[in-house]
Amino acid sequence: MEQERLTKKEADLKDSEQYYLWLTAKDNESRSPDTAPAAEEKSRATDVLHPYLHKIFEVSDKYLKRVFDEELLNEFRTNCFRDIRGDRNSTIEQFVKAYYDFAKREHQKQYTDADSDLNQAIFSAPHAPKALWGSCLDFLRRMDSESVQLMVTSPPYYNARDYSQWETLDDYLDDMSCIIKECYRVLDNHRPFIFNVGDIFDNDNRYTKSSWGKRRIPLGAYFTMIFEEHGFQFVDDFIWDKGEVQTQRHKNGNRPYPLYQYPVNCYEHIFVFYKHRLDETLYPCPVCGCLKVNGNAYSGMGIKSWECKNLDCFERSAGNRGKRFSARTQLMTGLQQADNHIDEDLLRQWRRDVVKIPPVIKINSKGENILGHTAPFPKEIPEYAVQVFTGINESVLDPFAGSFTTTIESFRQRRNSIGIELNRTMFRDAVLTRISNTLGMRPKEVEREWVFIEGNSWK
Ligand SMILES: C[S@@+](CC[C@H](N)C(=O)[O-])C[C@H]1O[C@@H](n2cnc3c(N)ncnc32)[C@H](O)[C@@H]1O
Repeated sequence: MEQERLTKKEADLKDSEQYYLWLTAKDNESRSPDTAPAAEEKSRATDVLHPYLHKIFEVSDKYLKRVFDEELLNEFRTNCFRDIRGDRNSTIEQFVKAYYDFAKREHQKQYTDADSDLNQAIFSAPHAPKALWGSCLDFLRRMDSESVQLMVTSPPYYNARDYSQWETLDDYLDDMSCIIKECYRVLDNHRPFIFNVGDIFDNDNRYTKSSWGKRRIPLGAYFTMIFEEHGFQFVDDFIWDKGEVQTQRHKNGNRPYPLYQYPVNCYEHIFVFYKHRLDETLYPCPVCGCLKVNGNAYSGMGIKSWECKNLDCFERSAGNRGKRFSARTQLMTGLQQADNHIDEDLLRQWRRDVVKIPPVIKINSKGENILGHTAPFPKEIPEYAVQVFTGINESVLDPFAGSFTTTIESFRQRRNSIGIELNRTMFRDAVLTRISNTLGMRPKEVEREWVFIEGNSWK
């Protein structure tokens, strides 16, 4: 009987502002019936449900059913009514954020090889850096899709160093291609991969193994092709000017005649590749929070743009057009917080796409390698990448971590820092020493505060 009475009252009030106030009062009464003040007063406070949340669900209902399956939609609705509190603007903001999180979960469900224990270890404690010992391909294959906001790395340069060797250049490029394909899946949408590589002088071992087969190999060009093949977009190529090289040798400088001359190499590439996976998921209008939107244009390759069709939206143009937005603009707006303000000196240093950075000094006066690695990159590369492409607490992954330069730098900048390195036997002790020296921690503290994961224990 009581139930029927409520249903009738509900029907009478439906479509009126009173209806939302009444529902809110009902919700708040069920939380603390003895102390509940009037609904209007409560909706002004920051810790109560705002009636506008009901409005969002009412306008968005049929669209929500298109995006989420029944189970996920029920969970989404329950979580929103349980967690979202505050005034109207804050309600819209929280709803939009929760929606994006759920849309990501829906996307992640499509990949079934993820290892939940591993993902828990990597993502649940963002303040502890993670050093993962093992093959990056193995780890990447067990990571959730679109779970990392930035990748920064410098791969092995084919056979330039003894820590990694391949029979031929093609074997090397095939291995790199498998890894980059997996990186694309794990990288979050509309996010970049900063990739440092040099055009080495070596034998591709395709035709001969003798020194006659040596040539300059344009690894940068080959990698660009591989990245694009897997869906990445080439955006920038910073030329890292390494300054005057140590050798004063001028190849064939003593033969000043045509066709003898070659320059001494003193640059490397620092590529910026972006992932823009065309995502057709409906996204809510950031102004009114409603999902009554039309996707009628693309603001770039792989970037869908939406227009709000809710006539009651709080922002309509003079010609009565709705707010236009994309998942990407929403992401960029969200990152505009004081904590993410980029250092002006850094911006000045990287203003041009030729950047002068001295090579890393790794050998001390006693001839010892103080960094424990033969090919570390300068900390300026991850320092730039982390500040310019991520916000606080976002996840940064280096799949070829070496001496963990990226991981140390992103930890310093309060990001969830993750490094994967294959050669544990070769580098583990040196890496521990480097981390403790750089961060001023005792090795025991490093072992306690960093999360070390062995590849095999996750197989
Ligand atoms: C150029 S170094 C990276 C140096 C690093 N940027 C630093 O600052 O120390 C490349 C690293 O990739 C590692 N490596 C090679 N193949 C790998 C793989 N499949 N998975 C993970 N690491 C790998 C090598 O052992 C090497 O340490």
